[in-house]
Amino acid sequence: MKKYVILISGRGSNMRSLLEADLPGQCAAVISNRPDAAGLDYARSRGVATAVVDHRQFASREEFDAALAAEIESREADLVLLAGFMRVLTEGFVRRFEGRLLNIHPSLLPSFPGLTTHAKAISAGVRVHGCTVHFVTPALDAGPIVIQAAVPVLDEDSEETLGSRVLAQEHRVYVQAARWFLEGRLSIQGNRVLLAGARPEETALL
Ligand code: GAR
Repeated sequence: MKKYVILISGRGSNMRSLLEADLPGQCAAVISNRPDAAGLDYARSRGVATAVVDHRQFASREEFDAALAAEIESREADLVLLAGFMRVLTEGFVRRFEGRLLNIHPSLLPSFPGLTTHAKAISAGVRVHGCTVHFVTPALDAGPIVIQAAVPVLDEDSEETLGSRVLAQEHRVYVQAARWFLEGRLSIQGNRVLLAGARPEETALL
């Protein structure tokens, strides 16, 4: 059975939906860069192993990423799921896990990379917003896209109301993407991700 690790920095609601999803793989650990990440308590309560690699204990990004990579490799993970992991990763780290490193981003990429995506969507006046699961490459929020989900932007939306509408979709699509990966059905061709044996009801939501 394939193993995966989940990297978090805070609340961990995406981590929680992944752990509750009964994925076809084993969660080898939840790893946080913050000792006080609320999501760690939930992982422990489910009996999932946890680890903290505190970025404040390292003098440079390279040293932090080396320690993080060592922690992941000690768990023999086939798949690394970034779930609200709020550290920019070095090129060396990304290359080491290329093709088995997924991220969930709260916008319809390539629109609104980076932070404060819901505020950016509202001020840009877009009528459709959403979330994206993508393979991570060295360029920030720019790797091959696995799945996206869209939500409407309503006149009365605040960052909070729009963000919670998007978050509900994040929980759905991240589980789907992780399942496809663990089933061995994803392949990367250039900037595109192909889904082997896609059924119409699956691709309707891509
Ligand atoms: C999620 O909305 C996720 O998409 C976002 O942080 C939130 C974490 O929530 N990630 C990023 O912005 C990555 N740049 P969670 O801890 O409840 O899953």
